[in-house]
Amino acid sequence: MEPKTPNESRTLMTDMVLPSETNPLNNLFGGELLARMDRAASIAARRHSRRITVTASVNHVAFNRAVPLGSVVTVEAKVSRAFRTSMEVFLDVWMEDRFTGERSKANEAIYTFVAVDETGVPTEVPPLQPETDLEKERFAAALRRKQLSLVLAGKMKPSEATELKALFLAP
Ligand SMILES: CC(C)(COP(=O)(O)OP(=O)(O)OC[C@H]1O[C@@H](n2cnc3c(N)ncnc32)[C@H](O)[C@@H]1OP(=O)(O)O)[C@@H](O)C(=O)NCCC(=O)NCCS
Repeated sequence: MEPKTPNESRTLMTDMVLPSETNPLNNLFGGELLARMDRAASIAARRHSRRITVTASVNHVAFNRAVPLGSVVTVEAKVSRAFRTSMEVFLDVWMEDRFTGERSKANEAIYTFVAVDETGVPTEVPPLQPETDLEKERFAAALRRKQLSLVLAGKMKPSEATELKALFLAP
């Protein structure tokens, strides 16, 4: 299969924060943001694989900043690495100040999707060719994150997570 670049899967979802989507502090409810990120990541994984894709795991979510009611929120999703049948999708969440229009990074997350056939059996995806420095950095670290996710899910023995172990043993 021909390699694809992260830009080929780039997905942008822009929406505003409505009163029904907020917590008692009038900030975006975490579960609402998770759902928006899952949808954007699913589209990015589909664009990369051109297959049905399912969420296998949410590897990391950082709710660094509260997103106030009325904010314009953009979720940007890109495949950061493709393995055999799974893809890591990196999400950057931006918010736009409603008065100045200034855009700032609010949150980020990392999801894993698996491409499946019509019967739900995992199927191969094209490799990913990162281009920018940030894409190369995310690509390089993705294998460690995959190993950590598999260890936490009980699908890999810690002793087999070679790249992950090397991170902790590095001088
Ligand atoms: C995701 C799913 C297809 C994986 O099935 P499986 O039997 O574990 O399949 P495999 O062991 O062949 O794994 C398939 C790929 O997923 C990866 N994978 C599985 N679980 C993972 C996890 N927790 N974290 C990261 N990767 C994972 C495997 O490493 C493998 O990747 P690779 O082929 O690129 O090396 C299966 O668990 C599933 O259908 N889950 C439900 C998905 C769903 O409904 N999501 C929505 C939730 S509401």
